Amino acid sequence: MSRFILAEDQLPTAWFNVLPRLESPMEPPLHPGTREPIGPDDLTPLFPMALIAQEVSTDPWIDIPGEVLDILKLWRPTPLVRAERLEAALGTPARIYFKDESVSPAGSHKPNTAVPQAFYNKAEGVTRLTTETGAGQWGTALSFATSQYDMECKVYMVRASYDQKPYRKIMMEVWGGEVVPSPVDEPDHPGSLGAAISDAVRDAVGRDDTHYALGSVLNHVLLHQTVIGLEARDQLKLAGESHPDVVIAPCGGGSNLGGLAFPFVPDEGVRLVAVEPASCPTLTEGRFEYDFGDTAGMTPLLPMYTLGHDFVPPSIHAGGLRYHGDSPIISKLVKDGRMEAIAYPQGKVFEAALQFARSEGKVPAPEAAHGIAKVIDEALAAKESGEERVILFNYCGHGHLDLAAYDDYLHGRLIDA
Ligand SMILES: Cc1ncc(COP(=O)(O)O)c(C=O)c1O
Repeated sequence: MSRFILAEDQLPTAWFNVLPRLESPMEPPLHPGTREPIGPDDLTPLFPMALIAQEVSTDPWIDIPGEVLDILKLWRPTPLVRAERLEAALGTPARIYFKDESVSPAGSHKPNTAVPQAFYNKAEGVTRLTTETGAGQWGTALSFATSQYDMECKVYMVRASYDQKPYRKIMMEVWGGEVVPSPVDEPDHPGSLGAAISDAVRDAVGRDDTHYALGSVLNHVLLHQTVIGLEARDQLKLAGESHPDVVIAPCGGGSNLGGLAFPFVPDEGVRLVAVEPASCPTLTEGRFEYDFGDTAGMTPLLPMYTLGHDFVPPSIHAGGLRYHGDSPIISKLVKDGRMEAIAYPQGKVFEAALQFARSEGKVPAPEAAHGIAKVIDEALAAKESGEERVILFNYCGHGHLDLAAYDDYLHGRLIDA
């Protein structure tokens, strides 16, 4: 058997909170003006109280509201797939499994948090959300979620992606989202996630009916994604595996990685690996320090690995990985040595994407292909050493709207940044 499926009633009913399971407490976020620890009141112009509470909660489990579960059930639980044809192509003794998050309406893991974020905002009377989007995946996810709750959504899309990925914009519009290129006031700038966050935050603080929704980085976002790892843990058991040896996922802000990996943090001996682009090497070459989440310096200061909030990464195709910082929890796990990090140039990433597409048949998002490149290296290392190794990775999105990137790769136009 190569696909391991859970029934609808086996969808997790509580999120896994990693905060109380960390070796030591997190450093607090600081106010951008005073540099003092922020309190809930500092965040109320942007987020509903329920999400602010989740951001700092130390409860080991947090119940998922029934109305959120009803929407998640449109595509969850997602399949766990054993990549037997990739194993055969590599001639490896490793057993490779992936969690297929590409089956969501938006085509990635992002709706797992878009839905609860829209739900909690709606419950507190908010009627409009603003956000940033890099690859366009998060913008589509939030447009889908707000359409389910009859809310308005305005998406500031990084201009490089806005130009490269017109179909993502159309998808957002299908769900009623309004999409504009960012930075709004610099038409010749390729943009960055940091600048788009500034645009979206500025919009939200200027209106009473509006809040801001972030697609990654913050604790509550990663919390919502833990349905991925919780399901995967059950599905690996169905596959007859006691545990994975290594858990791998791409890392932009850390949400799909945290979602898959956090439930395995307490399991000593399970290696956790973040994969990032060589052109935006936050975890592998950044500094661990307090920095702003956005370019303009409007967000709280977060303790994280960062390349500097004014860093503008090259316009690589994995738009969702072009972020100067990272989740504070992921940063801490890397700093404490619980998680490894590696960076790959995009030529190697697309080579891996093609090998996956030609063996497993699925065309991955460029972000997902970063993880696949590391999976292939791990599987080849297992072949070299002749050891069995159970590899689990996150197939966090399909690349059906990233075909221009494949066209560049196949016709020698891809810059190997
Ligand atoms: C398919 C896909 N994977 C990964 C990412 C990276 O984000 P994160 O690290 O939060 O999962 C994105 C971001 O847009 C994405 O669209």
